[in-house]
Amino acid sequence: MRAWALRLVFALLMLNTVQLVQLPAAAGRAAELAPICSPSVQDPSALGRVEVSAQASGQASTSIFDPATSQTRTIRSLSWLVLGICALIALVVEGVLLWTIIRYRSRGPARGQPEPAQVYGSGPIELAWTVVPCVIVFVLTLATIRSIRELAPDEAPPGSLKVSVIGHQWWWEYRYEESGVVTANELVVPVGRSIWLTLESADVIHSWWVPRLAGKIDVVPNWKNTLWFNTELQGTYLGQCAEYCGTQHANMYLRVDIVSPEEFERWVVAQRAEPAANPQMAAGHDIFLANACANCHSVAGMSDGRFGPDLTHLMSRATIGSGIALLDADTLRAWVKDPQTLKPGCNMPSLQLDEGELDALVAWLGGLR
Ligand code: CUA
Repeated sequence: MRAWALRLVFALLMLNTVQLVQLPAAAGRAAELAPICSPSVQDPSALGRVEVSAQASGQASTSIFDPATSQTRTIRSLSWLVLGICALIALVVEGVLLWTIIRYRSRGPARGQPEPAQVYGSGPIELAWTVVPCVIVFVLTLATIRSIRELAPDEAPPGSLKVSVIGHQWWWEYRYEESGVVTANELVVPVGRSIWLTLESADVIHSWWVPRLAGKIDVVPNWKNTLWFNTELQGTYLGQCAEYCGTQHANMYLRVDIVSPEEFERWVVAQRAEPAANPQMAAGHDIFLANACANCHSVAGMSDGRFGPDLTHLMSRATIGSGIALLDADTLRAWVKDPQTLKPGCNMPSLQLDEGELDALVAWLGGLR
């Protein structure tokens, strides 16, 4: 009887070892489940009046257990299945291990117990620790394949809103295929529609991940990936670049605004309009064109830079620096004065403008609505 119990314990311990080898996918999955970290807090005193807050004006939840689309509900179900199976295995293995440690602990030589019967090879046990993990992996594989098939169709569903996403160090460019709208960092989409993203990178590998809306997808140079989700609830959804891409990786936030179809139409019309010329702000306009600004930034009808975010309707956005701060006159001024203070290492240099030039430039930029 005791020999059988020992055999069973030995078998379960071996099963535990086999699992560690066979279930790395499950372990990786669990690591992905950790909620993404809160935004890095920089020293606010260095920024004057600028308040750095990535979660600014957005719903803070970035949990995959709080899905807002059918796609993320599928991901949640799969995650619970994987977590559940792994938790059950852990419970059984650790439970039997604990029971054995206590039940068969040394009671000292004085009690004179003989050495337990030694086990060398056992057909049934070896069969068990081979078949059981195989069945578990098979079940997990089938469930994963089913989810992947549902989450990654080969083609855009009919009627999808198609948007190209380009990852840059360290911001996001969005180009709407039908309307031609180009914007940065804040994706605006209508509710009740399929959104089909085609993603590529201008430099290194990034990863687009808004946990409540869709799965995570790598954004790779010279390669197009696609991602699909249905918008069901209006609101603001936050995310973050999920692939280390350099010093400001942690400040490469994602923001998706799901609005009503009417509001979306108004937004598209506004985004397609050329910025109104304001003769009172001609000085700022001249500074923009005379300095390096125009080489990197597009403003419709004035400049055609592609290196930095399109500024045609800059002030229609809620945040600056890919979500590191709320966009207002103060943060805009601090950013233009020295972007390296807000986002050290970013590709925009300080232009060393004097205070008067800075005021004029910021006043003109502030009119780009
Ligand atoms: Cu882009 Cu990390």
